[in-house]
Amino acid sequence: MLTREQAMEAVRSVTAQYTAEQLSFRDVMVKDRQVSLTVLGASAAAQPAVEASLREALARIGAETVRCRFRDESAPPAAAAASAGAGKAGGPAPVQGHGAGLASPLLDPRSGVQFIAVASGKGGVGKSTVTVNLAVALARKGKRVGIIDADIYGFSVPDMMGIEERPNVVNERVIPIEKFGVQVMSMGFFVEDNSPIVWRGPMLGKMLRNFFQEIEWGELDYLLLDLPPGTGDVALDVHQIIPQSKEIIVTTPHATAAFVAARAGAMAIKTEHEIIGVVENMSYYVSTSTGEKEYVFGRGGGARLAETLHAELLAQIPLGAPDNHPSEPDFSPSVYKAESETGKLYLELADRVLSKLNP
Ligand SMILES: Nc1ncnc2c1ncn2[C@@H]1O[C@H](COP(=O)(O)OP(=O)(O)O)[C@@H](O)[C@H]1O
Ligand SMILES: [Mg+2]
Repeated sequence: MLTREQAMEAVRSVTAQYTAEQLSFRDVMVKDRQVSLTVLGASAAAQPAVEASLREALARIGAETVRCRFRDESAPPAAAAASAGAGKAGGPAPVQGHGAGLASPLLDPRSGVQFIAVASGKGGVGKSTVTVNLAVALARKGKRVGIIDADIYGFSVPDMMGIEERPNVVNERVIPIEKFGVQVMSMGFFVEDNSPIVWRGPMLGKMLRNFFQEIEWGELDYLLLDLPPGTGDVALDVHQIIPQSKEIIVTTPHATAAFVAARAGAMAIKTEHEIIGVVENMSYYVSTSTGEKEYVFGRGGGARLAETLHAELLAQIPLGAPDNHPSEPDFSPSVYKAESETGKLYLELADRVLSKLNP
């Protein structure tokens, strides 16, 4: 088995060879025989050679696929002007790099980015948990994924993913934080001491636009939005700003919750957002003594909601926090491990979503 430590050692040996470049790396992830990582500090000219060396070194220790992302956030803001044009992911067709005054290239349908807004009727049903774990599952499947934590009143994504650092700014553009292979942007990054947000109405849409225009997203396949609960301004803003966005509606199995969630679904339909499907969270609890499923929050809400919305019930996620420990190197309170039962359910959910979005 290929371990993360082995992969890190191989990467370290490669980056050490490029003495002129002062390379560093982070976010080394190993899943089965797939390795992904971020390399910092490589000049555009050196990137192809660095990538080739990394592929070779990692293949030698058994990696089957290697996903290498280049970032330039090691450059301090003062030096940023000198490195203008750098800082985006490698690849033949960059979709980024325009000034903040222009419409965001990410929103151009030709960018190929697919938007998935995650909505719910009310708070506390696990919308953010589902957003985060679906994003991580898509990344585990090798997709390039971002999250916008657009729940500006109750931003929670950084905490849930165990993100403690704050984004860097390069060329006046904000670099998302990468964790578990997912690019994350949250209002929580810009708020001191968790102080409440007092913005109203139009400010919300403005914030959302900024999240598209002033953020250096790099190349993405999927961008997930954790929407505020309910059917408020932000749902409308999302429709205006990203009419091509599709939605996942999260509910609990309780009949009332499903009824409330139906309103969020109706909103999606009204704004002509295609509904990818319904995720029922906290569906059951697996008894530790008998192994039986106990339906503590009732039963059938997800299926009923899916029927109401003429959509598919994509997943039923059981109750139970991830089995993570703060002593682990990549600790997060809310991300299920890939090999855990719930982690596997999220991988299946990712498969369903992928096949729905790419028929
Ligand atoms: N399947 C689950 N099992 C146990 N706890 C969960 C589950 N899903 C979510 N939670 C917990 O419930 C709370 C609300 O979830 P959250 O994702 O923040 O909901 P929302 O974004 O809809 O407000 C959080 O404390 C979260 O950790
Ligand atoms: Mg939330």
